[in-house]
Amino acid sequence: MGGAQAEKPSQDPLTEGKSRYMKDCAACHGATGVGDGPVAGALHKAPSGLTHLAARNDGEFPTDYVRRVVDGRDLQQLAHGSVEMPVWGNQYRSSLLALSEQHVQRKINALVVYLQSIQAK
Ligand code: HEC
Repeated sequence: MGGAQAEKPSQDPLTEGKSRYMKDCAACHGATGVGDGPVAGALHKAPSGLTHLAARNDGEFPTDYVRRVVDGRDLQQLAHGSVEMPVWGNQYRSSLLALSEQHVQRKINALVVYLQSIQAK
């Protein structure tokens, strides 16, 4: 190889999504996604289990829905009541690195890929 410095290879979405999930989501939704994280008891509304999203949707993983819920920025449009979940679209946007919208979408996409991988069969 040699020549121009190669860009740091990015992780595949599943690996990235999993480590991000453990960091940002497991406290509420539980390490295995069944909704039993350590913070769950302190919330008004129990965090949802995330392993039956596909089963609930006739066996098809509801990609767009999950993307929107995790992003959260347009949730006012959904009849969702009070949401105790952080608005990740804003969190990722306003991080110290001042990430671009593209990066925000990449993070959310990785999470969606990971969640799809933990659906109960
Ligand atoms: C502070 C606790 C908390 C954290 C952290 C959190 N969530 Fe949530 N999440 C909730 C709660 C509570 C609900 C239920 C919200 C409601 O229905 O009003 C929810 C709902 C959801 C839903 C909708 C589930 C359904 O049954 O429709 C998805 C998907 C989801 N969260 C994904 C994530 C992901 C991905 C992360 C990490 C980036 C995350 N959550 C982090 C508390 C949390």
